[in-house]
Amino acid sequence: MKRTVPFFESPIVLAPLGGPGTVELTAAACNARAFGSLACQYSDPERMRRDIARLRTLTDKPFGLNLFMNNDPPPVDADHLSRAHQRLHVYRDELGVPRPEVPQSPPLYHDEQMRVVLETRPQAFSFTLGIPSDAVIAELKAAGIYTIGTATTVEEAVALERAGIEAVCVQGAEAGGHRGTFLHYEVLPLIGTLALVPQVVKAVSIPVIAAGGIADGDGIAAVLLLGACAAQLGTAFLLADEAGTATAYRDVLKHASASDTIITEAFSGKPARGIANRVTRELADPRERAPYPHQNTMTRDIRNAAASQGRSEFLSLWAGQAFPLAREASAAEIIESLLAQTRVALRSRE
Ligand SMILES: Cc1cc2nc3c(=O)[nH]c(=O)nc-3n(C[C@H](O)[C@H](O)[C@H](O)COP(=O)(O)O)c2cc1C
Repeated sequence: MKRTVPFFESPIVLAPLGGPGTVELTAAACNARAFGSLACQYSDPERMRRDIARLRTLTDKPFGLNLFMNNDPPPVDADHLSRAHQRLHVYRDELGVPRPEVPQSPPLYHDEQMRVVLETRPQAFSFTLGIPSDAVIAELKAAGIYTIGTATTVEEAVALERAGIEAVCVQGAEAGGHRGTFLHYEVLPLIGTLALVPQVVKAVSIPVIAAGGIADGDGIAAVLLLGACAAQLGTAFLLADEAGTATAYRDVLKHASASDTIITEAFSGKPARGIANRVTRELADPRERAPYPHQNTMTRDIRNAAASQGRSEFLSLWAGQAFPLAREASAAEIIESLLAQTRVALRSRE
């Protein structure tokens, strides 16, 4: 039986892109027949409401909202936190950013963000790094919101299906941004998209969306042949006209090579794939940084200043392994050409 997500108009999903994502990019993707997601993790509830209202003025198509699930800061030793905080001063000094006296605490508004999702009723709610509680899943269902979880292993996909989640986004190791891994592993599983998608398709009966390293129509066709119902692309849109990708970040994407991406915890305290730079090299030792979400909060002033000063050595340059395939064009042009390439690739198989 063919597994599909009923409201997808094409096999392309614009990934939620915390940082470079914008309301304009989501709307443009939706209007071009992709399913557009809006990353809300870094938006406070007020900004979420404003963004969702504006998105609805720019498109009448369905869209998805996205949040992280593991938001309770872990207990962390005060001395370790203070050391990690002070370690960052050298970057602040170079950028001319004032040194905050105490480490900035992560904002605690996950429950309010969830409330905004429930009240604004997007077509879909996607999430990563965990599973919502049974009570929240029941509320999402009661509100008619379709749920899409993220899995990086077969076990996680099975756990999502058992929890009643309606579709699973399978994130291969090639993917840019944070790894969605949420079951406890001593070693971070890094299974490639090509290997993981067919295993998940076999293990669950809900629709599978493939993500990671897909940035052209051949890649989309490949995951459809593996049994996915759609491909979720993030990196392919980082150079889109509507993306908020900082100029210095764009410059690196245009000149680096695929061998430059690494998995790093330097910026956020959680493993994420991006292009290596001075900060990822200098904060490679876990003793030098705090766990997520502390590190993410503490590096924010540095990342913001680096973006406005054009200093890519201090920016989190999230990118998947396929970033050299990303094109500079409008989201509509990118999607149109991806769809045309996918059609050709699938036809050549007939
Ligand atoms: C800059 C960037 C930011 C991302 N932010 C999020 C996010 O907020 N939530 C999420 O679920 N995934 C996020 N992702 C991961 C994507 O959902 C997706 O797994 C990934 O982009 C797919 O691989 P690709 O980058 O090779 O296309 C992000 C990816 C990138 C590149």
